Amino acid sequence: MTDTEKSVQDAYPPTPEFAQAANAGPELAAAAEADRLGFWADQAARLHWHEPFTEVLDWTDAPVAKWFVGGKLNVAYNCVDRHVLDGHGDQVAIHWEGEPGDSRDLTYNDLLAEVSRAANYFTELGLEAGDRVAIYMPMIPEAIISMLACARLGLTHSVVFAGYSPSALRSRVDDAEARLIVTTDGQWRRGKSAPLKEAVDEALYAHGDVPHSVEHVLIVRRTNVEVPWTEGRDAWWHETVAEASPEHTAEAFDSEHPLFILYTSGTTGKPKGIVHTTGGYLTQTSYTHHYVFDHKAGQDVYWCTADIGWVTGHSYIVYGPLSNRTTQVVYEGTPNSPNEHRHWEIVEKYGVTIYYTAPTLVRTFMKWGHAIPEAHDLSSIRLLGSVGEPINPQAWRWYRKYIGGDNVPIVDTWWQTETGAIMMSPLPGVTATKPGAAMGPLPGISAKVVDDDGNDIALGETEAVGYLVLDQPWPSMLRGIWGDLERYKATYWEKYAEQGWYFAGDGAKVDEDDAFWVLGRVDDVMNVSGHRISTSEVESALVGHHSVAEAAVVGASDEMTGQGIVAFVILKASAKGGSDGLVDELKAEVSRAISPIAKPREIHIVPELPKTRSGKIMRRLLRDVAEGRELGDTSTLVDPKVFEAIRSS
Ligand code: WTA
Repeated sequence: MTDTEKSVQDAYPPTPEFAQAANAGPELAAAAEADRLGFWADQAARLHWHEPFTEVLDWTDAPVAKWFVGGKLNVAYNCVDRHVLDGHGDQVAIHWEGEPGDSRDLTYNDLLAEVSRAANYFTELGLEAGDRVAIYMPMIPEAIISMLACARLGLTHSVVFAGYSPSALRSRVDDAEARLIVTTDGQWRRGKSAPLKEAVDEALYAHGDVPHSVEHVLIVRRTNVEVPWTEGRDAWWHETVAEASPEHTAEAFDSEHPLFILYTSGTTGKPKGIVHTTGGYLTQTSYTHHYVFDHKAGQDVYWCTADIGWVTGHSYIVYGPLSNRTTQVVYEGTPNSPNEHRHWEIVEKYGVTIYYTAPTLVRTFMKWGHAIPEAHDLSSIRLLGSVGEPINPQAWRWYRKYIGGDNVPIVDTWWQTETGAIMMSPLPGVTATKPGAAMGPLPGISAKVVDDDGNDIALGETEAVGYLVLDQPWPSMLRGIWGDLERYKATYWEKYAEQGWYFAGDGAKVDEDDAFWVLGRVDDVMNVSGHRISTSEVESALVGHHSVAEAAVVGASDEMTGQGIVAFVILKASAKGGSDGLVDELKAEVSRAISPIAKPREIHIVPELPKTRSGKIMRRLLRDVAEGRELGDTSTLVDPKVFEAIRSS
């Protein structure tokens, strides 16, 4: 029996004790089924509205939705002020752990003062609602404070992962026309300080005199490195924000006011600026965080290990948890600094009860061995979560056994940058969960698995793989791609235009028990350690190197990282003869141009690439080569002999 077949049979029902105390019961799905929009109106009541909405959903301008029409609210007020006003100001919001071992606790009172200071200073800079702010920072409290200060003022933030290169930062800053960049002097990575402000300057100056939109750079001191300085543009946080008044009154914004832009890889080289708005986004992040993680305010200690540079950090470190008055751990560094015990020491130190991470990290823990978690008391943990890629059943079982003491529910949550919040997941306390399956859409969400023409794929046809579609709009759905409505329509809505369904870009199947299994991307997007990287982004970085004439990149399955990047490159005639060391140089070039997360696992220098008669590179065949499989159909290939040349090189 294969791992997958076996897992179809085992299902892990919740324990009666868990079910009894769980936030979600069977009535949740029943309510959503009886009246879907009414159900979402009830969920919106989780928030404080300065002005109530008059209509739940306006879908007349599909595929651009309006949720909670006419309502007005302030996201920061919902995430901070209201908890203080409700008498919970002394509750810890963030237990922050720095990589070098420093730590800091921020209560909701502290958070309110800090966010207010930052909001006052941003206002002093002349920023106004609707302006864009780029945030390029490691995982320190000021990153979260900056996001909340933007939300408080109606400024649209664009967080750029601090591992991205200066040119990746520049293209995002240019696309959103950011007026302010918030950054740090440097960031800690495995005991070393890596400069970050320097990267901002490189982003702004490396393009010579090409003008940019940035008027201000605000710098938090973190690693105490020297920074290049531009008088009049640059300011230290500790000399400005820290001196500003801690009093600030939050203003309400329209439910559809743009809250943030987050760039993600698509099938072309140009990253897409995914736009999320206010009321629907906060409703669904709050709802899912409450029910999927079974979160109990004032009791749980929650830890999501993502970075705020990704959507998981936005929705499940900042907005969902803080709107629910969570006490959470935020950790700055890598899981093996100073050694592989770090996460479990943190769990013990704070008594973490809910732990949410990515399958790639679970597989890394497996590789390090179970003796490491076994050296710690992890009995505080009562729920585990997974996100970012399919979790293989073996990793699922290991996670439950060694981290979850063999008795806690695991929620395997499927969602995307575009969906804004969790869409499919078991409900702890309700669902009997199968290892490796996201199980099904949450109450209020509707999903299907269909074939190319949109026909349902019959239940139980476990071999039949189809496309995952969302056939009803949902509150936290993206409202578009920044500045490119046509691309938004073409990417997500064209394939099933007739039916009006959202095409998620994932392959999936539904088994005989109606459980959904998400199988991975069906487009040219790779998923490496839970990070989305497009093949064409890496290809253009490779051809940016002076010795490369042409490049083709595929994602090949990888035991640790889910997929690994495998590149095939043809060298220019001028570069031939000197390929020694070139592979390393090309890998370094991709790291430099995009980020170390996009560095290819393998680069093969080949004489030719397989192409169809119409000149398209046949990636499917390259994937077969990369994964060492027998070749599939080569009948449309111009010259099938290319493969012998590729394989022997
Ligand atoms: C994949 C991350 C299987 C999927 C929140 C999706 C998953 C892409 C799961 C989105 C899961 C995410 N099971 N696959 N539980 N969660 N994915 O935008 O391919 O970084 O389309 O959002 O990750 O990645 P993104």
